[in-house]
Amino acid sequence: MACRCLLSRILNYHSAPNTILTLTCQRRLQVALLEGTRKYSAAKSTTSDGPDTYFITTPIFYVNSVPHIGHLHTTVLSDCLARWHRIKGKHVIFSTGTDEHGMKIQKAALDHNQQPADYCDKISAEFQRLFTLTNISHTNFIRTTEQRHIETVQHFWQRIYDNGYIYKGSYSGWYCTSDEAFLTDDRVDEITSKDGKLIKVSADSGHPVEWMEEENYMFKLSAFKQQLLDWLRKDVIKPAKFQAVVNQWVEQSLQDLSVSRTTKRLTWGIPVPGDPTQTIYVWLDALVNYLTVGGYPRMGYTWPAQCHVVGKDILKFHAVYWPAFLMAADLPVPDEIMCHSHWLVDGVKMSKSLGNVVNPFDDVNKYTVDGLRYFLLREAVPHSDANYTTDKVTNILNSELANTLGNLLGRCTSMAVNPNQHFPEFDEELFKSTSSDADQEMMKSLHKLPGFVDDCYTEYNIYKGIDAVMNQLRLTNTFLEQQKPWELCKHNERARQLGNVLHLTMETLRVCAILLQPITPDMACRILDALNIPKDSRMFVDSKCHFQGGTSLAATRSGPAFKRITHRSKASV
Ligand code: MSP
Repeated sequence: MACRCLLSRILNYHSAPNTILTLTCQRRLQVALLEGTRKYSAAKSTTSDGPDTYFITTPIFYVNSVPHIGHLHTTVLSDCLARWHRIKGKHVIFSTGTDEHGMKIQKAALDHNQQPADYCDKISAEFQRLFTLTNISHTNFIRTTEQRHIETVQHFWQRIYDNGYIYKGSYSGWYCTSDEAFLTDDRVDEITSKDGKLIKVSADSGHPVEWMEEENYMFKLSAFKQQLLDWLRKDVIKPAKFQAVVNQWVEQSLQDLSVSRTTKRLTWGIPVPGDPTQTIYVWLDALVNYLTVGGYPRMGYTWPAQCHVVGKDILKFHAVYWPAFLMAADLPVPDEIMCHSHWLVDGVKMSKSLGNVVNPFDDVNKYTVDGLRYFLLREAVPHSDANYTTDKVTNILNSELANTLGNLLGRCTSMAVNPNQHFPEFDEELFKSTSSDADQEMMKSLHKLPGFVDDCYTEYNIYKGIDAVMNQLRLTNTFLEQQKPWELCKHNERARQLGNVLHLTMETLRVCAILLQPITPDMACRILDALNIPKDSRMFVDSKCHFQGGTSLAATRSGPAFKRITHRSKASV
């Protein structure tokens, strides 16, 4: 009943004059609402929150244009964390999706002569195709045009309104449609455009802004300064560099925020409950996606999220506005926000006008899924921008995955040195009596590796964890060079020594492959399969060295761990 009421309210709002929502869109919305109603009544309550649940989110992506490498990076990073917590035994909820309302999308659809709903369907499908292709293990893909989300946003709005934090006011100031952001005077710069005109742009993004004067609903952001500071004191924003930035934003004045737009300008959005003349501000709408995924406000919904992964350009929305909205609705705030920097291409910002936007579909073809995932996670550091160049990708993949990792696997499993295809047992006494200081150091660092990598991944320093794994593999390659198994195998009396060399190499590969599963899932699986490690022995607890061995290798193998990249950049051909 409540749903039917909501359905007719929404349809009435969107039938207002001057709306660009056509009959087709209305019908779609109606179908979505009815389908949603069915799902709603059939739904059981969600898994309730608990210490064993890890709820992680990516930002939801604007559907104004197709995905680029920056979008893939944010998602791969979140996927890596989701996979890590899974192999640590958590029940993981991992959400991603598309942000489909607002001026930016309304305008993009118009520019392409398409209805917004059709345009959103098309671009959202591209994001879903990319995430399937790149092995993203999300449990939820949310679209903000879905009925379940529309309901959640309206419920959430009503709750904040009933709590007295939304009031009718008027906004006059700058608005940047590209960022969907309201800006104060000090965040606006004046620049000369290519055609010689003076234009105002956002100081943060460089995108044009326009002056706006409208009757709007305002949110009492200023009321939450102290609560926000208390929350921030728990060091919730990672890395620390960004925590300091957020502290400063909150310490400086927090002005009330406009949270609606008049339907005269914006119809492609969710109507303000009870006021057909206003559409909810797209950022409020978008942020609530996280609650929708958690099942809010149904019984047993899961909240708060443990981690929101965001790029630095959208930190303020997540670390200031979002917690304040949640506080206003009497809901818990997220545990942590992980903020990353951006990808530059050949040292410059990616932009359509420069024609340097990296298409992730093309680069998956060039470098493979695992190759691209590895490069993005290994090369990006959270605190500063990273640089994407074709030569760098090729060199890193060939030297680290094909050489360091791939060769090590090839060397210990080849028929030449390992004709019986064994993962031999380890002879500890022999190792003690024959090992050099360097060998013992290698052994010590292998023991420490899982704990160290755990700390790195948990602290969002993925690149450091990968670096430690690669160092271990390099040490083992050096060990192999010194031990020369290709010589040992020619002498029967050296069989025990050969067994130890092969064992240590394989044990290293086993440990490293378990730790690399979140980074390069298919490649790690190929290595573990080749070593014949059972599928149920690939959790984080299994990465502890146990020196078992005494098993056979897989009877068949699916090629090398990683094939060399032979593609060359335009500059180097
Ligand atoms: N729709 C909003 C997010 C709403 S979340 C409630 C949005 N979308 S976006 O498509 O513009 O950006 C999504 C993510 O991609 C952001 O985290 C952003 O930082 C990231 N990236 C966009 N360009 C990027 C790079 N060049 N490099 C790395 N990530 C970048 O903002």
